Amino acid sequence: MLQFSHVQITPRPIVADPVTSFDLDVSRSPELLLREQRAFVCGHFNPLALRDAVGSEVHFLLEDYPIKLPGSPVYMPDWMMQTGIPQQVVDHRFATSRAYDDQLWVLYYERHYRQLGDPARQDVWGCHIDEYEEALLARQGRISTAYLGVSSIPTHMYDGLGVSFNLSSLVHLSHLQSDDEAEYDEIQELADKLYSPHVYPPEGRCYPAGSLLCMSGVTPHKVGTACEAGWRAMCSFYMRDVHRSVPDSLIRRNPALHVWAQKFA
Ligand SMILES: [Fe+2]
Repeated sequence: MLQFSHVQITPRPIVADPVTSFDLDVSRSPELLLREQRAFVCGHFNPLALRDAVGSEVHFLLEDYPIKLPGSPVYMPDWMMQTGIPQQVVDHRFATSRAYDDQLWVLYYERHYRQLGDPARQDVWGCHIDEYEEALLARQGRISTAYLGVSSIPTHMYDGLGVSFNLSSLVHLSHLQSDDEAEYDEIQELADKLYSPHVYPPEGRCYPAGSLLCMSGVTPHKVGTACEAGWRAMCSFYMRDVHRSVPDSLIRRNPALHVWAQKFA
């Protein structure tokens, strides 16, 4: 396991256009899936700096790593700083969202070798949204937001689901999500089957590597396919409401957040 320290990040005042292409800071509801939820480019970075942030010949996976609690500063793994992405995310979020300071932020970073024809990610492949459909149907809390960067093999981003999409089809998916016996692949397969026929534009939008994307938790998307063999990295900052308290098991993963966890408890 890579050892690292943390860097505290403070938002700098920037001028940013208001977010209008997707629903920001609104309550979760299934109806959001019937509205346009288009991702947009909010910054740029060097794809090679992202690809090699933890080394040049290593497979690496960091999942659901907490970097901000409600009321806390952002504490970022030091090796992410060389990508230039963290400061841009913090600045943009601070400038555009009322929820800046009262959500949980988690970081995903993965780095893998992909062969020609491989899906960009190992475990995620079909058309999906990042929010749990179960949470949309429960209408609890606000919609999540994500910032996404890739070093190669762009993600296919869709503007939304067409008017032909039937919300009642979500019920089966949410049942599957709440079923402890259900396999991850089974859930993904059903999501892909539900969303793929309805997304627009049908081929999706692929932004060049090095584009920092801002998207909603209900923006439909699908991983791309490798056109050549090579190392590939992606990072995602995911911001979501938390109910009651953040699980200790999550907070323990980032030592810089311990003191804030006590305040928040
Ligand atoms: Fe996703």
